[in-house]
Amino acid sequence: MKLPVRTAGFYVSLVAAAMLTGCATTNPNQPTTLKAAYKRHFHVGVAINRDIATGDAVHADNVNRTRQQINKDIALVEEQFDQISPENDLKWQIIQPRPGPDGYNFGPADAYVNFGLRHHMYVVGHTLVWHNQTPNWVFRGTNPPPESPGGDSVGFGFGGGFGFSGPRASRDQLLERMREHIFTVVGRYKRKVKVWDVVNEAVADNGTNLLRKSLWLQIIGPDFIAKAFEYAHEADPHAILRYNDYGLEDPVKRHKLITLIKSLQAQHVPVMAIGSQTHVSVSSPSFAQEDQELTDLETLRLPIHITELDVNGARGGQRSNSGDVSANASATQGEMVSNADQKLADAYSNLFRAFIKHKSVKLVTFWGVNDAVSWRARGRPLLFDGNDQPKPAFYAVLHVANRRLPKAGN
Ligand code: GLA
Repeated sequence: MKLPVRTAGFYVSLVAAAMLTGCATTNPNQPTTLKAAYKRHFHVGVAINRDIATGDAVHADNVNRTRQQINKDIALVEEQFDQISPENDLKWQIIQPRPGPDGYNFGPADAYVNFGLRHHMYVVGHTLVWHNQTPNWVFRGTNPPPESPGGDSVGFGFGGGFGFSGPRASRDQLLERMREHIFTVVGRYKRKVKVWDVVNEAVADNGTNLLRKSLWLQIIGPDFIAKAFEYAHEADPHAILRYNDYGLEDPVKRHKLITLIKSLQAQHVPVMAIGSQTHVSVSSPSFAQEDQELTDLETLRLPIHITELDVNGARGGQRSNSGDVSANASATQGEMVSNADQKLADAYSNLFRAFIKHKSVKLVTFWGVNDAVSWRARGRPLLFDGNDQPKPAFYAVLHVANRRLPKAGN
């Protein structure tokens, strides 16, 4: 067992918080880090921002940490997690802001990947094809746009791709841009990045349409998903290729996803894992709802990854500004719920009881290391506070792994 490098104060607070949450987790022989506690179940990872990846106060990703705080954030990442995801730096908007081979900006992505390799972590790549945080040039061409695109909304927020209404690329042009991007990015990190989110958030939220009416869908057609997976597989045949989406706690959206993946499987498209983002709140899902989600997803017979876990503790609001990092603060609204620490601990406990019940869950990634750097900072959704101190939810999560049997029920 690797004991964390912590001060005596840490252990005092461990005992105090264990008492607060009613947990009996202070046995000195039990693991005190997330990665050690869950070793026999799944990887426990975290999304890191550019400050953490570079060790520099670059203030990207809408965070404003001092160098001292960044050092603490890095120490916490090293101590608790064995997997990382990039919060923003591998998104198209950042890694290829301009067209062509000279349009790439590999610096931040290289720093991210090197951070993972240096710390012997399991490195995830996020994300290759998405309707959001994709620059307009990707979709631009000489074909006039349809007069009234109609149908489902393309998604939340903005950040490139959304607002683009000019003349469009042809199907062949867009496929070629997608192929070039995937080959370059996946090729560069071949064998270093072990898992790729190949397509993010393609399923429609509302209505009867299966797929979101993104520019990818409108210009290429529904096979943009299959093509993206085929290109990624060709670029790195060893990488685990993931389809990632949010809102799978909702049975209607979940069944759309299952329909989509089954149809891709019938076409032998190399989808190798399902990513359930799991941006949830203290009020739902319950243990039973999460259990049901995982049971349903298991019908696909693929590993399940919980890819962007956080639990909003604010009363209102949801993920209304996905991908627009400058508007992250409004991703949560309202005051904190009453007794927020305890409710957060209970919610995380329910989730982790469901995760360990399902052997197909192979990886759980928190979307940020602490409340201060979270895109939902106002809802204080993570296990560590802005000073990197563990909250009762941290001990609740440890307790689930450290006790012998997961308790059934809500
Ligand atoms: C989505 C994306 C993530 C991130 C969050 C909001 O879930 O997949 O990359 O942008 O929105 O921060």
